[in-house]
Amino acid sequence: MRKLYVFDTTLRDGEQSLGITLNAREKIEIARQLVSLGVDVIEAGFPASSPGDLESVSKIAKEVKGVTICGLTRAVEQDIDICAQALKQAEAPRIHTGIGVSPVHMEKKLKMTPEQVIERTVAAVKYAKKYVHDVEFYAEDSFRSDRTFLVKVLEKAISAGATVINIPDTVGYASPWEYGELIAFVMNQVKNIDQAVVSVHCHNDLGMATANALAGIRNGAGQVEGTINGIGERAGNTSLEEVIMAVFTKPTAYGVESRINTREIAPTSRIVARITGVSVPDHKAIVGANAFMHASGIHQDGVIKDRDTYEIIKPEDIGVPQNTISLSARSGRHALQHRLEELGYPVEGADLDDVYERFLKLADAKKEIFDQDLFALMGDKESFTESIQVKNMSFATNLSKIATATVTLELNGVETTDAATGNGLVSALFNTIGRITGNTAGVEDYAVKSVTRGNEAIGEATVKLRNDKGALVVGKGFSTDVIEASAKAYINAVMKSR
Ligand code: KIV
Ligand code: ZN
Repeated sequence: MRKLYVFDTTLRDGEQSLGITLNAREKIEIARQLVSLGVDVIEAGFPASSPGDLESVSKIAKEVKGVTICGLTRAVEQDIDICAQALKQAEAPRIHTGIGVSPVHMEKKLKMTPEQVIERTVAAVKYAKKYVHDVEFYAEDSFRSDRTFLVKVLEKAISAGATVINIPDTVGYASPWEYGELIAFVMNQVKNIDQAVVSVHCHNDLGMATANALAGIRNGAGQVEGTINGIGERAGNTSLEEVIMAVFTKPTAYGVESRINTREIAPTSRIVARITGVSVPDHKAIVGANAFMHASGIHQDGVIKDRDTYEIIKPEDIGVPQNTISLSARSGRHALQHRLEELGYPVEGADLDDVYERFLKLADAKKEIFDQDLFALMGDKESFTESIQVKNMSFATNLSKIATATVTLELNGVETTDAATGNGLVSALFNTIGRITGNTAGVEDYAVKSVTRGNEAIGEATVKLRNDKGALVVGKGFSTDVIEASAKAYINAVMKSR
């Protein structure tokens, strides 16, 4: 078996494309979880793109160990200088530099000749090498490039010192056999290819990013790039969890093995969805809520007789343990702690007291507590802001559709009451909280969905605010009362936008 290196770009190709700015604390939380998952490389950002990205990459480089930390650059000295500065404290730094190689990128975007692109490639790799040993070169839009030219660029990049060669299908145009052929071609035609690892980087415009990446792996690639939950530019990137589980389920079909701890897949997916605000569709492969649900009678009957009839992956293998005990208001602290631990939330001491108190309140509202309730409970704890608490809310509305909300908030221990109108309950609620908190960021998006089962289901509210710098921030709130969940989500977003 060949080793498959897993390169996660959730914090770069994933985050950059969402229009959402994750702060350094959020990025570090995701990065730490990626280390638990066992990825080999974390692409932490594009440091030259903004001061915020520079700060996040620097902090991740300083605080997240046991993994290669990578930063993206254009093939420009200034980008490389900034990236090297951001990676200074990384245990294992990698600079990922590159340039467009397809005719449309060279002529229209870069306005450069192929010779100039080669010159820039060599200069950039050599320049990055002055700072770090580990330099990855991306040949952007490789799939639409002229093959003879591509081989030339890659040979020059490797001779200049590139340790990894990234062959992106930047626009998601390839079909699996075509992308597989491209990787085989690179493996056979690039003379010095044995001196570098070949990396696959696919986009999902035609829904083939995972299939294309796997075809590349089958044909010799030693590294796969992608994001958790497949988030990313336009239709997204390759979903790393899909590639990992394809290889885990059928290692001999691909001839590779990774060092991923598959049991951390579900917790990682949940953390990324919560922090980015990008929900996972119920039917999403591997990590969707329905991925292990059997709805039809025939399927249920089969699974009861033998799970192999309709299940190719054991839920436990991706970190969804089988539920053996059902929790309710009668469950003790220890039973709750045990189940949370199984779900990937080790809590103890004062934290456990706090969670148990919330659990009892929830159990009063709902008879039975399911795992989804516990996820929501933990999500609520993580988005909870101690310095602002909702003390009271009341509403008046009539058929004119103008609603009035009166809200009392406790801000750093001081209670303030105010009222405002809006063209509906939620709009009045947000306007009132906005007045009390002095928030000026506008609501860009708002959604509520039920995240658990039953009449007393927990609602998850997501509020996206656009701050003065044009960045989107995401707030989450959870409650069995959707208005309360909305208020919490709005407050969470206000706190983050400051
Ligand atoms: O899709 C792409 O080509 C990229 C490169 C910048 C690596 O994301
Ligand atoms: Zn990309």
